[in-house]
Amino acid sequence: MTIMKKEEFEFRDLLNHPWKLFGYSYLYVLVILGGLGLYYISQLTMVGKNNILPSVSPDSVMLVQDIPMQPAASVPPVDMRKVGAPTTQLISRGREVFRASCVGCHGETGNGDGSAGATLNPPPRNFRKPDGWVNGSKVSQIYRTLQEGIVRTGMSSFNYLPPDDRFALAHYIRTVVPVPPADSPDDMIALESTYQLSKGSTTPAQIPIRIAMRRITDEFRTESNRLRAAITKIKTSDAISAHFFKSHVADEQKAAGIFLFCAKRMENVDVFERIVASDPPGSGFRPSVVMLSKDEWKLLFDFGMSL
Ligand code: HEC
Repeated sequence: MTIMKKEEFEFRDLLNHPWKLFGYSYLYVLVILGGLGLYYISQLTMVGKNNILPSVSPDSVMLVQDIPMQPAASVPPVDMRKVGAPTTQLISRGREVFRASCVGCHGETGNGDGSAGATLNPPPRNFRKPDGWVNGSKVSQIYRTLQEGIVRTGMSSFNYLPPDDRFALAHYIRTVVPVPPADSPDDMIALESTYQLSKGSTTPAQIPIRIAMRRITDEFRTESNRLRAAITKIKTSDAISAHFFKSHVADEQKAAGIFLFCAKRMENVDVFERIVASDPPGSGFRPSVVMLSKDEWKLLFDFGMSL
């Protein structure tokens, strides 16, 4: 009995059935795909990191913002007797401000058809329609609308406009309101007591803390440099007045200090004498100064003022 040993690779068979080739090659494809997958996964953190915008600070402490630079502003007091009644002046000023700040939403004619208001809900008010006002069309009510805005609508606060301009706007808007209701004296009194308009107000100027700190440091540095220069002069000057000064000084720093930093108060030798004689050690001098003559005080004073 002969045993037919089958060859491991039957090339003829493979030629007849080429799809069998796939049976061997898919292993390689699998390995390559697996390798690519592993590589992709190993690079994932880099991919993720690249998605973070470079402007994001890695430390949120760095995000603290300084206070902004702001010039001093003063809001002039409002004359409540004048702003309540419309004048041609107020109305034409109102038209000007309206064109600058309101037409975008309320439209040229106040019909509420400005292009910027097209998508707003509720839509900008048509001033010609009498019903549905939230605050109303009295002068005091429009003023309130401009001061506070209407919450959760496109009508934001315009409290940065000067009060006079806001009254001007109110009067201008009322020229297109069909029957504008009048304010009672009580309405205006209430407005005044809410916003204290006749007092006016001032906001002090403010500079960023970063700049303020730098200025303080610079100032301190100049002052201490001046003081150091003055002390050196007392110690090293060869003038007779310098020697005289030195012989009556107990503490150069204090003595120089009263000339440098109290110079404005020290108008003349009499004031100087009064200040120093009342407390010689406190001003850096020896107690013996109280015995000095007028001329000697003058010598001390002149040298001090030259520091
Ligand atoms: C961004 C768009 C927008 C701008 C700009 C705008 N408004 Fe309005 N305004 C609105 C919308 C929206 C309403 C409707 C709010 C509501 O009905 O609740 C409104 C309502 C009003 C009302 C009616 C308030 C009431 O009692 O119902 C007045 C008055 C008014 N605006 C005045 C002004 C004036 C004056 C300016 C310019 C200084 C101005 N608005 C600028 C969107 C705007």
